[in-house]
Formats: sequence, C-alpha cells, structure tokens
Amino acid sequence: MLNNSIHYIQNELYCDDVPVQSIADELGTPVYIYSLKRVLDNLAHIRAAFGELNPHIHYSAKANASLAVLHTIINAGAGIDAVSSGEIYKALRVGTKPEDIVFAGVGKTRDELRYALEQNVGWFNVENVLELQHINDLVAELKRQPTRVALRLNPDIIAPTHKHIATGHKAAKFGLSIETVKNVLANRSQYPNVRIEGIHIHIGSQLHDTEATRQAVMVALDCIKPYSDIRTFNIGGGMAVRYSPDEAIPRWEDFGAAITPLLKDYQVILEPGRSIIADAGMLVISLLYSKVQGGEPIYITDGSMAELIRPALYEAHHEIVPVIQASAGSPQKAYHIVGPVCESADALGHNIQLPEIEPGALLAVLTAGAYSMAMASNYNQRPRPPEVVVAEDGQSWRLARRRETWEDLTATEII
Ligand SMILES: Cc1ncc(COP(=O)(O)O)c(C=O)c1O
Repeated sequence: MLNNSIHYIQNELYCDDVPVQSIADELGTPVYIYSLKRVLDNLAHIRAAFGELNPHIHYSAKANASLAVLHTIINAGAGIDAVSSGEIYKALRVGTKPEDIVFAGVGKTRDELRYALEQNVGWFNVENVLELQHINDLVAELKRQPTRVALRLNPDIIAPTHKHIATGHKAAKFGLSIETVKNVLANRSQYPNVRIEGIHIHIGSQLHDTEATRQAVMVALDCIKPYSDIRTFNIGGGMAVRYSPDEAIPRWEDFGAAITPLLKDYQVILEPGRSIIADAGMLVISLLYSKVQGGEPIYITDGSMAELIRPALYEAHHEIVPVIQASAGSPQKAYHIVGPVCESADALGHNIQLPEIEPGALLAVLTAGAYSMAMASNYNQRPRPPEVVVAEDGQSWRLARRRETWEDLTATEII
C-alpha cells in the first residue's frame, strides 16, 4: 500500500525522495527496496500506541533479518526477538546487546540453547518442558548464574487471521498448554538454574481484531496470578498492516487500549515484526511477456514466488502498481501477475487492475518488506535479488545486499 514513504510524485513511484526507476535502472530487477524512514516511523508509532505501558520492543527478526534493517532498528533503541541461533548471530553482528535479545521458538536444539546461554541472551521463551530442563542443565554445565525464562503459553484462543499464521489455538504446535504452564509453575523448584519471571503469548500474525489478544492476556494472567515474582508479560507480535485499501484492521492504538488496563502492573514486551517492516518495503519487478489464457489477461514478470511466497503460501494479497503511471483515463484490465517459476501457484497477484504496459516496464509489489526476502528461496535455481535501503533522511539509497550470482548457487555444493 502507498504511504508517506512509498508514494507517487507526478506519476512516478518514489521511495521517499528516490525515484524507484533510478534504482532499477542501476541494479536491474527483481529488487527489494526498503524505506528506513518508514521503519523508524512505524517503530515510533508503535511506541506511541502503547505509550503508557512503556513496552520494551523486540523487533521480530524473522520478518526481515537483513543486517541493514536490523541495524537501523537496534540503533533506534529496540531489541530483537530471535527464533534461531542464526537470528541471534545476526542480531549480535549489528551490535544488539545480548540482554536485549529474547529467544523464542518451538524447536530449539541443545546447541542453540548452549550458544544463546554462552552469549548471555536476555530471555528464553520456553515452549517445551524438556527445553526447560535442557536450559536448567546447560546452565549448570556452563557454570552460569540462573537464567531468565518466560513460559510461552498456548492460551487456546483462535486468532482472527489466516489459518497458517494462527498460533494460539490448542492444537497449534506453539507454546505450553494452560495445564502445563500451571504444572511447571507449581513445580518450579525442580529447575533451580532458571528464573521463571515472565509469561509469553503470541496468538498469531496479521490479527484482525484485538479481542482475541485481550482474551489471551486474561488467560495468561489467570495462570500467573499466584506468582507475584512474575512481573514481565510478553504479548508477542501480530499487529496487522493493511495490504489492500478495503482491508479492515484494528489500529495499533486499539491494541494498546485493549491491553493497557490489564497490564499496567507489568513490564510489557512486544515482538512486532510485520508492523515495523511490511509497508516500508516493495519488490520491484519487470514485465517480460503478456498473454491471454482462457480469456484471462496475464502479465508474466521476472518476479516470482521464489522472491515473494506469501500469495502462493497464504493466498495473501499485495497491491501491485506501475512504477510509471499511465496517463489519466487509460483503460485498465484485471490481470493475473505471474512469475517464471514452474508451479501453477507461482503468482504474485490475481485480478490486479493495471493499464496495458510494454515488456520492460516496471511494476512494484507493495507492502513487501516483511516475510518476503526473509522467506525467499533459490527454487528453480534463481539467484536471490539485491536489497536496497533508502536512508533515514529519505534522500539517498545504497545496496544492503548484492544480487546473488550463479557462483553463489553452487558455492556450498560438492560434486
Ligand atoms: C513468537 C512470535 N513473536 C513475534 C512474531 C512476529 O509477528 P508479526 O510479524 O505478526 O508482528 C511472531 C511471528 O509469527 C512470533 O511467532
């Protein structure tokens, strides 16, 4: 979606003050472009929306773990939510203080836990009783002081979102059941090397109401009521962004208002991912060919599900717009926007209203900053695209990751 940073100036798409066409002319397509100004605006917006609670913000690196993005967010005073030792490694590479890292994840290996302990990460969000035992044992093995833990509760709440990104219903693989959390807390003396000082929930991503979150918070509060030393409440991420003009989503202020009265007495942690980076980014692609199949017009582009899998994976919608707008009144048609990958699911959009454009013309897939490059693959042996950041003052751009080469495709292989 267009916004203050991703916008048209006289019919030409800009990222802040930089014409998108000028970046594509130099680097080719596909290319991801991010506005660091928009990233910082979103971070400030979230802080304001939860103002009274003064939450610690731990950016969820899984949404977009590019070093340039992480660095900008860390410099603005946020911490990191990591779900693998790779994400912890990248967070540390950009200067995140270890205590500002929370380590979540449903399947942390012992090696990952050991690495995180050696690095002194701030919090372990625990999702399995055996994991808690591993942490307890590793702390002893490494001769460390007891480490801080939050139990991730599965509150058995159905989140109002796509089924693939709902995580808080009882059959989901995430978190500990209510009974398990109560049990662990009642028996915490069995884990002398961990300090269970927090509770964690994350019921899903792209949440379409605040009520499910409020209910989940209530369930969690009930579990920790008897334990006055549990003073940290991590409510996860999940705040939605608008992918199309008619998508009805709660404002971030609504999330703040829904939980503030409940959590006034707690130190609150938020783990926003999508809400910080999604609408700061776009994927710029070029038209290769057009055709009409079964009466339906199709634009075949050089962008594919390998660069942006969300439409194929979640039937997600992204607005797709021309980088140079057609003159007013030009006829438009509803196009399927597809890529070169050999899968019928390889589409970036369906029924996208666009004018007739010529091969070589650029299209921008909007709101593509989150879960895009982070989920990109080399499927069909496609080198992954470069990433560009437009500086915080909006005036200049630089390469944040170069385009992969054919050599990169074989660099780790042995014949
Ligand atoms: C535990 C946890 N925290 C935070 C997030 C970030 O969610 P979002 O990008 O919707 O803010 C996720 C994403 O799934 C998650 O699993």
